[in-house]
Amino acid sequence: MPTAFDVLARDHEEVKRMLAELELGPTVAVGANSDQLALRKKMVEQLVIEESRHEAVEEMYFWPAVREHLSDGEDLANQALAQEQEGKDILGRLDKLGPEDEAFETLLAQFASAGRAHIAFEETTVWPGLRDALSAAEADDLGRELEQGKETAPTRRP
Ligand SMILES: [Fe+2]
Ligand SMILES: [Fe+2]
Repeated sequence: MPTAFDVLARDHEEVKRMLAELELGPTVAVGANSDQLALRKKMVEQLVIEESRHEAVEEMYFWPAVREHLSDGEDLANQALAQEQEGKDILGRLDKLGPEDEAFETLLAQFASAGRAHIAFEETTVWPGLRDALSAAEADDLGRELEQGKETAPTRRP
């Protein structure tokens, strides 16, 4: 049975893999052809979908658990939600652009940096305390909620 941390770690690895792949290019600046640019747009759409689902279920199940179980949970959850809002804003703008638009690569690089910092914040600042605070059964239950939530979570963030 995957715990909450297994479910979230799998998503984080997938997002990091997508970012690394996008960073390989090619971009319009180095002469990517139209097929390559179409693929690049598709990859960004996948990133938006993956991120939307992931942050939506964190907001629905994970941060409430952090607030409930950790003495500094309110503060941690508020910080994380501000980071998620920033990521959502960047992706919302990126989602409206084509890969030939001037701002496309700038926004993508901004998201890569903010997104990796957010993942690191969750994994190193939040997870250790919550791992200690949750029983094995609670970590399993939360993992199940996250997995089931992902099936119905929005693929574009409001
Ligand atoms: Fe998050
Ligand atoms: Fe996360």
